[in-house]
Amino acid sequence: MNQMLYRRLIQLSILKNIRIINWKKDSTILDIGCGDGSMTSKLFKELIPNCKTMTGCDINEDMIRFANEHYASERVNFTTLNIEGELPDQLRERFHHATSFYALNWYRRQE
Ligand SMILES: C[S@@+](CC[C@H](N)C(=O)[O-])C[C@H]1O[C@@H](n2cnc3c(N)ncnc32)[C@H](O)[C@@H]1O
Repeated sequence: MNQMLYRRLIQLSILKNIRIINWKKDSTILDIGCGDGSMTSKLFKELIPNCKTMTGCDINEDMIRFANEHYASERVNFTTLNIEGELPDQLRERFHHATSFYALNWYRRQE
């Protein structure tokens, strides 16, 4: 699928559903399977209201390196994580919400 069309479809889907989600004020959000971080950054800046911090995670170290170089800021950070394994202590009970876009279908262990 054309990359621009893909991004537009994600954004339309988020915009459609964003009103029905009761986003906590000053929320901390984990974006699972964040890829290059561009969508995580857009979510933080434009789409999710009252977001305090956003953490993107991905199994792919190259993606996380790119994300940290291009999209990290004081309140947006990226970390390497295989979501199929145990959640490290420093990420436990830290987040109010979790998002994941076009990533869950990639996980081999779905439970
Ligand atoms: C199609 S990309 C979506 C990227 C991003 N969410 C977006 O919308 O632009 C799917 C991502 O899931 C990641 N992924 C696949 N298996 C994973 C796992 N077990 N744990 C964390 N991330 C994983 C891949 O490395 C890839 O970057």
